[in-house]
Amino acid sequence: MNSSLFLDFIVLISCIIELAESKNVLILLGDDVGFQFGAYGNRKIKSPNVDALAARSLVFNNGFTSVSSCSPSRSVVLTGLPVHQNGMYGLHHSVHHFNSFDNVMSLPVILGKNNIRTGIIGKKHLGPDSVYKFDYEVTGEHYPLLQVGRNITCMKHYVREFLNQSRNDSRPFLLYIGIFDIHRCATGGKLGDFCDKFGDGMTPGTGVIPDWKPEVYRPEDVEIPYFLPDTPATRGDLVNMYKTYSRFDQGIGLFMKELENAGFADDTLVLFTSDNGIPFPLAKTNLYDPGQGEPFMISSPYHRDTWGKRTDAMASTMDILPTVLDWFQVPFPKYKLNGLQVSITGKYLLRALTPNPPPAFDHVFSSHIFHEATMNYPMRVMRTKNMKLIHNLNFLAPYPLATDLYLNPTFLDILNRTESGRPLPWITTLEKYYYRDEWQLFNLTSDPHEQKNLVGSSAYYDVMKTMMTSLEKWLEVTGDPWRCLPGSVLEGNSCDSMYNNVNSGFMFG
Ligand SMILES: *[C@@H]1O[C@H](CO)[C@@H](O)[C@H](O)[C@H]1NC(C)=O
Ligand SMILES: *[C@@H]1O[C@H](CO)[C@@H](O)[C@H](O)[C@H]1NC(C)=O
Ligand SMILES: *[C@@H]1O[C@H](CO)[C@@H](O)[C@H](O)[C@H]1NC(C)=O
Ligand SMILES: *[C@@H]1O[C@H](CO)[C@@H](O)[C@H](O)[C@H]1NC(C)=O
Ligand SMILES: *[C@@H]1O[C@H](CO)[C@@H](O)[C@H](O)[C@H]1NC(C)=O
Repeated sequence: MNSSLFLDFIVLISCIIELAESKNVLILLGDDVGFQFGAYGNRKIKSPNVDALAARSLVFNNGFTSVSSCSPSRSVVLTGLPVHQNGMYGLHHSVHHFNSFDNVMSLPVILGKNNIRTGIIGKKHLGPDSVYKFDYEVTGEHYPLLQVGRNITCMKHYVREFLNQSRNDSRPFLLYIGIFDIHRCATGGKLGDFCDKFGDGMTPGTGVIPDWKPEVYRPEDVEIPYFLPDTPATRGDLVNMYKTYSRFDQGIGLFMKELENAGFADDTLVLFTSDNGIPFPLAKTNLYDPGQGEPFMISSPYHRDTWGKRTDAMASTMDILPTVLDWFQVPFPKYKLNGLQVSITGKYLLRALTPNPPPAFDHVFSSHIFHEATMNYPMRVMRTKNMKLIHNLNFLAPYPLATDLYLNPTFLDILNRTESGRPLPWITTLEKYYYRDEWQLFNLTSDPHEQKNLVGSSAYYDVMKTMMTSLEKWLEVTGDPWRCLPGSVLEGNSCDSMYNNVNSGFMFG
């Protein structure tokens, strides 16, 4: 046995010994939450509670979502399968009506069969019900989402109730808290502004959230991310977002306090991340880094030596299910979906808590199809530490916009400035934002803002070929029905050309 294999073996053994005592899991999932935390280098925002969580976590510098959309992302967290495999192609609610396949085996169902108690509080936004069944459910599916998802006092009550019941229950638990912040709000029936006034105790008629002490910012107090224009409209929008972040941050503090008060802080694994990037152009619904990158922290009471440390290991929301099963020592069930044996392609992230994470932690894949039912824009992505390859299947169409990504002050200002010919200090233009090349290859070291497409550059021929091959293999293993588009049709296991003058599909396939 060579020495590195031997090392892996030792690491594995020590993991198993340590995990024999492991008990519970708490997943804290933000909604459209990005990197606006002190722990992620933001110098303007106040985030004492998330920073405190970071101080007792391993913080990932390279966390990513598997898909840049709400229900799809949540389905990946709870199935470990990409959306093209689990069936949750787009949003679940109202006219969008997307659901996972009826025989998908989700995390709460697998754990339930293994005598582990499961609970969900806040935003669920998934279906069908039987696939995503938890023992304890207080979610927006049956309760007012504003209360159980954003009112942190109301949420605290349910968290306490669940933990209280667990104290009187010999089974370990999984508790998943889907916090609705910092998602934009439907004020006056239109989804565009932030929900910063709800319960702030300052705005007449919006009530009070007793546990929230709002932090208020001025336009000069916000950091403008590189992918947004520095305009008064953007600054005003960010001021409201920052205030909303203070409710999110204080919620995290409250829920962690409940965990501690109930006596579970020393045997509970805490995972913190978000479903997709912040609700702004180039971020949410996109798989450029502002949409694909996520805050990502793992706090393990059995790995205190990792607390407050940072890792460059690459993590994906697709890794959460395998990581939780690994923690509980529960095997992934054998089953088939659409005739294909289902296998897990995510990673066991607890192995990242060891000093030398395995080499496999050097890339992630993403697969995006819809957001709203009208937003047909499938993308397949491979990202390594230094390179990103994006395949835009519907590249001939203009990139579609979600309601909240249209009706927000930042985007309306971009539209207005473009239409009226006023200066727009943005890293891209509306035209470039709407019309994308079929394949996009970026060198993130020399071009972290993903501006220069390297497809066709001979210097990158080999790296592109390698990435395309890896991506194609992953799509095949995970049974992607879209994998021959846009140039050919999937017939059995092969891609038969349509001769439609779209030269590609996979050039090297
Ligand atoms: C917690 O459990 C105790 C009994 O063990 C009960 O008296 C109390 O009301 C419970 N609190 C909540 C919030 O459920
Ligand atoms: C605790 O469990 C016992 C026995 O199952 C039950 O009678 C009691 O009501 C439970 N208490 C709470 C607070 O759930
Ligand atoms: C938040 O929840 C608490 C406790 O249920 C309630 O008293 C308060 O009125 C709620 N606040 C808002 C703004 O709905
Ligand atoms: C842009 O904004 C100005 C000032 O608010 C407004 O008068 C004008 O109608 C807007 N133009 C467009 C094209 O929306
Ligand atoms: C990406 O750019 C960096 C900095 O210019 C360079 O060192 C590296 O070789 C490039 N990557 C590839 C794969 O060519």
